[in-house]
Amino acid sequence: MLRVAVMVSGGGTNLQALIDAVEAGTIEHTQIVAVISNKKDAYALERAEKHGILGLCISPKDFAGRDAFGRALVQALQEKQADLVVLAGYLVILPEILVQAYQNRMINIHPSLIPSFCGAGYYGLKVHEAVLARGVKVTGATVHFVDEGTDTGPIILQKAVEVHPDDTPKTLQQRVMEQAEWKILPQAVRLIAQGRVSVAGGIVKIAAEGAVNV
Ligand code: GRF
Repeated sequence: MLRVAVMVSGGGTNLQALIDAVEAGTIEHTQIVAVISNKKDAYALERAEKHGILGLCISPKDFAGRDAFGRALVQALQEKQADLVVLAGYLVILPEILVQAYQNRMINIHPSLIPSFCGAGYYGLKVHEAVLARGVKVTGATVHFVDEGTDTGPIILQKAVEVHPDDTPKTLQQRVMEQAEWKILPQAVRLIAQGRVSVAGGIVKIAAEGAVNV
């Protein structure tokens, strides 16, 4: 059984995609053991509650410094015996201690095709604004492992999405979520639950279905 903790800051539609996939049995041998938000009013916490999942608010504001905040996060994750941490719209810079504790066991969904439109300052609608300002015709989403950098970790899955001439940042964001994010995030968790994802030299390899004994 893969024990997954999901970290969120906002609406939680990616969290919902994961909950739905677990409940539908598309992702097998997986339990979402906690949803951790930095904001107590995040709608994602309500989604967790509706599905009987423990929701926790751990805010950096409640700690003396980033180290103490990081230790509290690691402690909560360890208490819940999380094997995998999923960042699903988590908008807080991660304390180093957390990144180190969950190396190759923490993944993030980013709403562009990394290495384009990623890194410091590229989050939320800003990503889609930059895509439209540059005039690229194809964008998408990426699921990657989290390392010490911003959006620099090994890439697990990517999916391309067309940019339309009449797109606004909002319409593009919605299409990227519907066509890419809500698909590849559950898919990545499924592959990890199946034991098919490995990392060597910064490159992810995905074993063929049936090639690995779970
Ligand atoms: C998504 O666009 C995700 O890629 C980004 O933040 C947004 C979160 O949306 N990291 P939601 O909270 O899952 O609805």
